[in-house]
Amino acid sequence: MTRRLSVAFTPAGIPGDDPLAGTVVVIDVLRATSTVTTALAAGAARVLPVATPEAARERARSLDPAITLLCGERGGRPLAGFDLGNSPAEYTPGAVRGRTLVFTSTNGTRAMLRAASAERVILASFLNAAAVVRDLEAGSGPVHLLASGQDGRVALEDLLAAGLLVARLEATGDFRPDDAARIARTVREAAGADLAAALGRTDHGRELADLGFGADLEACARTDVLDLVPVLRRGEIVAGDQAPQASR
Ligand code: MLT
Repeated sequence: MTRRLSVAFTPAGIPGDDPLAGTVVVIDVLRATSTVTTALAAGAARVLPVATPEAARERARSLDPAITLLCGERGGRPLAGFDLGNSPAEYTPGAVRGRTLVFTSTNGTRAMLRAASAERVILASFLNAAAVVRDLEAGSGPVHLLASGQDGRVALEDLLAAGLLVARLEATGDFRPDDAARIARTVREAAGADLAAALGRTDHGRELADLGFGADLEACARTDVLDLVPVLRRGEIVAGDQAPQASR
């Protein structure tokens, strides 16, 4: 039997209180899910997503300061008194290995928290697309791709990543995409091969370039370079077990 594959263009597209069956895949290409995946690949022990900078400071106060970092952004900019912003390049092994990261971002962490009551929650970006597809193929039940969007509006960069996942999952023959998933796939196909350029044409891509974070667009456009699936469980994000490599 084929599995249902849906796309929500913004967090409002999934129920916030009624726990969803199956797997929710949170996508915030620019830049939260790209950054969190990079952090875990660099050896961060765990990432605690929180809604606001104030909540992040409060949470950090209850943790061991020797191994805790305050991380994230508002409006794309690093926050005063925080250790790291939201550029993947900041999350090097030297900076984060073995650390607990208390992380807040404008839209990405909101989407993660909204999805948190689902049966299973994982994070996707272009960086780990192949690992996410393998993980979903090996699992069971419906799959809901959740685009984080921007301030409640659809964000093209998240649809591009959702569309890539839809195309790859549909190719397995095991998934039945809904109309929104087909829209995402069509948008990805229309965007062409130069993904960094496509990210640069998005609203948020332009904002980040204007803020001086143009290099992040290249970094977030790299596809299938991290073999890791972040899993959000009981309020913390950790590197999940790797699904076996598909034999075909
Ligand atoms: C967000 O959560 O809205 C983004 O990650 C913002 C950003 O690019 O820093």
